[in-house]
Amino acid sequence: MALIEIRNLVKKFDEKVILSKINLDINEGDIKVIMGPSGCGKTTLIMCLNRLVEPTSGSIRFHGQDITKSNVDIRALRKRIGFVFQSFALYRHLTVLDNVTLALRKLNGLSRVDANERAMHELARLEMAAHFDKYPAQISGGQKQRVALARALVMDPEVLIFDEPTSALDPVMTREVAALITKLHNEKVTIVCVTHDVSMAEQISDTAIFMEQGIVKAEGNIDLIFRTHPDLTMRDFFGQVNRA
Ligand SMILES: Nc1ncnc2c1ncn2[C@@H]1O[C@H](COP(=O)(O)OP(=O)(O)O)[C@@H](O)[C@H]1O
Ligand SMILES: [Mg+2]
Repeated sequence: MALIEIRNLVKKFDEKVILSKINLDINEGDIKVIMGPSGCGKTTLIMCLNRLVEPTSGSIRFHGQDITKSNVDIRALRKRIGFVFQSFALYRHLTVLDNVTLALRKLNGLSRVDANERAMHELARLEMAAHFDKYPAQISGGQKQRVALARALVMDPEVLIFDEPTSALDPVMTREVAALITKLHNEKVTIVCVTHDVSMAEQISDTAIFMEQGIVKAEGNIDLIFRTHPDLTMRDFFGQVNRA
């Protein structure tokens, strides 16, 4: 049994089909890279995994339990499946430290002292401890990304989902984030990562899923399959179409 089993997952927004019967398995310890053109449904798909988006039909089993059912404890689910948002989604009125401790205090019921200790440990691992009392407006994009990551990691999730984690970063920071994701993977965190960045995808995984218009078009070795796939959209995405 896969850790996460997505079956016939459909999402419609106002009758418009955004996800069209997606089937996908994510095994424990996997690192799943999801690629595809803008608007094809990547964010919608990963948001269904912790109910940030409500699926229209189909099922998502996590440890065998269908998490699309209405009786599922969504707060508990989100502790186990963490999400790092593309836009970081930090609270502007909270310091770095308070952004990282918020869920520990509100969801896990930790005292401020205990939450601060855990958060500082995580911030230190990400070399952000020195910035603990700054506000998001006072730190760079790369630093915001690390705070968003610390906020997710401090909950000790089994699965960590990233939505285009490097879209706001320069190449050096991108490599750093890729290295961080690889490190988490080595520590046995199951990773799902949406990215447009082929080199970043190749740094963290040999394989990727390619989505197009709400379906999984292909899954396989990035180099072997995608670069030689007969489908033009896909080769175009990977910059392999000869326009001459
Ligand atoms: N809350 C929403 N309401 C209506 N349409 C939405 C909503 N969220 C996303 N969409 C639409 O669903 C499609 C897929 O969006 P998204 O999952 O964000 O794509 P991607 O992440 O691959 O760029 C787009 O056409 C987008 O406009
Ligand atoms: Mg998106």
